Amino acid sequence: MSAHGPATPMTAHPSGPLRGTASVPGDKSISHRALILGALSVGETRITGLLEGQDVLDTARAMRAFGAEVIRHAPGDWSVHGVGVGGFAEPDGVIDCGNSGTSVRLIMGAMATTGITATFTGDASLNKRPMGRGTDPLAEFGAQAVGRSGGRLPLTLIGAAHPVPVRYALPVPSAQVKSAVLLAGLNAPGATVVIEPEPTRDHTERMLRGFGAEVTVETTPEGRVITLTGQPELTPCPIAVPRDPSSAAFPVCAALMVQNSDILVPGVSQNPTRNGIFLTLQEMGADLVMENPRDEGGEPVADLRVRHSALHGIIVPPERAAAMIDEYPVLAALAALAEGPTVMRGIKELRVKESDRIDAMARGLEACGVRVDETEDSLTVHGTGAVAGGATVASRLDHRIAMSFLCLGLAAQAPIRVDDASPIATSFPVFEDLMRGLGAQITREDG
Ligand code: S3P
Repeated sequence: MSAHGPATPMTAHPSGPLRGTASVPGDKSISHRALILGALSVGETRITGLLEGQDVLDTARAMRAFGAEVIRHAPGDWSVHGVGVGGFAEPDGVIDCGNSGTSVRLIMGAMATTGITATFTGDASLNKRPMGRGTDPLAEFGAQAVGRSGGRLPLTLIGAAHPVPVRYALPVPSAQVKSAVLLAGLNAPGATVVIEPEPTRDHTERMLRGFGAEVTVETTPEGRVITLTGQPELTPCPIAVPRDPSSAAFPVCAALMVQNSDILVPGVSQNPTRNGIFLTLQEMGADLVMENPRDEGGEPVADLRVRHSALHGIIVPPERAAAMIDEYPVLAALAALAEGPTVMRGIKELRVKESDRIDAMARGLEACGVRVDETEDSLTVHGTGAVAGGATVASRLDHRIAMSFLCLGLAAQAPIRVDDASPIATSFPVFEDLMRGLGAQITREDG
């Protein structure tokens, strides 16, 4: 049994060419933020293209628990009637954030400066992850967190009834922590300042502006200095969610791996804080073209045309890590099929994701016959142009580990079985159908 229901083993078999159009779902980060900012504004926020993955559904359920009205009109078409900044009601029960670090960290931020108390929990993966990085800055606003050892979930947060604004330098590059501080700052008087030494995804800043908040960003020798003026009245802004580059990375990498593939992935966000994987693939020799670049709903998007390519290993610049932090698992899988070593440094944050992703990829790749080296903050995959496969790998309650090995199995010499693919539903519920539609042979063992 996984925390998402019964374990669902899946097997990816060596497949013929992948062909066709892969319409991946809406961006997960933007979907969470649209629901939360909708809940904090007054009036109706209309959202189209919302990702209906379990993580986002958990955020939607939480927003209802805090008093917002959240309505699903049709697939991807939602509206939120918000309660206004500082208007959250105290939830009756425990807020279960499932597998979603983004849900719990952002929602804790959004309630930390209101005089209410809430208790948060999650699945076995989320309850292992560090929460102190989120609650430490919230304590500076005056909120109090009581969690398990190491500040882990389940955790109760007592919001500050009389919050003070905060100036906070992020000790780790984390968009979730940055966003938690900015959302808390919404209900604090005066200016809340977050300083990030390395730029991380900037959807919160962009969307806050869209909802009428005053947010300024300065680039200084200390890093990006983001200043939010507290206690704005947020006004609803229609949100058209672009397609998720992190989900797009799976069919893109699969097409690069499988001989004679040629696919189109339309309408994918090209936000520069998220596009590191595409630059990296091009540096490895990928035939990947961004067609029809345009602006949709305040985010740059493009259609990705990708054809199978002979790739070579590279050194991925560590300063690019934040812009592709969720794509290292699939890159590691792809690197096994490139010629020569691919060196990924500066990726310590992967150790505290839904699983320890350095360890999960290293062990899984070794089981598939690939040589790897790892340190605390790096992974090197020694690609030889071919992968034996013929193994079962553990997904460890981590959607991206499961999808990475299913992509690799399409191009390995023998099938790769993933012990539990059910976590894929957290971010990419249509993964299996979409990949099959391109020609991937993926089979499941139910029950
Ligand atoms: C996210 C930020 C990143 C990323 C996660 C989504 C977000 O996490 O890994 O999938 O939506 O803000 P960190 O903030 O822990 O780096």
